[in-house]
Amino acid sequence: MTGFPRIRPRRLRSSSALRSLIAEVDLSPSRFIMPLFVDENLKSPIPTPGLEGYTTYPPDSKELINLVNAAMEVGVKSFLIFGVPSTKDEVGSRAFAEDGPVQRALRTIRSEVGWEPVLMTDLCICEYTSHGHCGIPVNSRRGTVIDNDSTLKVYQKIAVSQAQAGADFIAPSGMMDGQVRAIREALDTAGFTDVGIMAYSAKYASSMYGPFREAVDSAPRFGDRKSYQMDPRNAREAIKEVRLDLEEGADIVMVKPALMYLDVISLVKRTYPDVPLAAYNVSGEYAMIKAAARQGLIDGVAAMMEALYAIRRAGADMIITYFALDAARAIASGK
Ligand code: PBG
Ligand code: ZN
Repeated sequence: MTGFPRIRPRRLRSSSALRSLIAEVDLSPSRFIMPLFVDENLKSPIPTPGLEGYTTYPPDSKELINLVNAAMEVGVKSFLIFGVPSTKDEVGSRAFAEDGPVQRALRTIRSEVGWEPVLMTDLCICEYTSHGHCGIPVNSRRGTVIDNDSTLKVYQKIAVSQAQAGADFIAPSGMMDGQVRAIREALDTAGFTDVGIMAYSAKYASSMYGPFREAVDSAPRFGDRKSYQMDPRNAREAIKEVRLDLEEGADIVMVKPALMYLDVISLVKRTYPDVPLAAYNVSGEYAMIKAAARQGLIDGVAAMMEALYAIRRAGADMIITYFALDAARAIASGK
């Protein structure tokens, strides 16, 4: 048996330092985008409904500033802002109000923290509309449907209003056709040629958005989102969605959710290696790990890191995740 096995993969696993030396991917807090929830109904922060361990802030609170500063301190410098409005209507007017929740949060962070953080804004109307859809419902020959082109006009107003308030990147998540081009044109016309677009390109009609919809009260009041979000059975179709968004002017493209769509992340990265790719580790994916850990079934920190590594290994350059702060702290403590 001398000399057998000759090739011994275990040689590369014998110490922590050696394992880190040969690791194919690593995680840095600079690659995380931390979601922020701001609610214009609040006077003080509250635990985010439905999202264990997360907090929703008043848009111009010192607590929000403290959170942003604390995140920056541990290396998390990019944020994705979601708003909860005081009133809802058919078109989502609070989404483009000058004093809307997202606009107020942007102005507050810009005046109190400055321009070092990358501030991205989710652009959609489901949180802001009485019907809870990402587009505007109209009557058609097949009953009530979500109208694509009139929705784009609303998206244009939202984009300009978010840019005026200080957004670096606009992130349209409504899955309307042509939304990237419509927003690019509106931004350019208003003089915001320096504001980028992170497109939710391959966004699936997923069961994994439950906690988020509770957090911002955005569940559709009738029907579902299957006429605009992608069918979970399709991977190749993601390439088409990404291609269209790139043609329309997207700077960053996204696959969402992340953990159930690692194959799609990998396919998009291999097809467009030169395009920055984001993956959204969504609320349901976060909740599953949190819930299992709370019940003592899994090690929550280890599962969090394993999930984030999986998303990086699949090919994501950046990860939108509710774990951003926890993971940054785990990385800092050598986990
Ligand atoms: C709204 C939006 C959703 C998410 C981000 N933007 C929910 C949805 O499409 O219903 C989901 C985020 C998450 O679950 O973490 N367009
Ligand atoms: Zn939406």
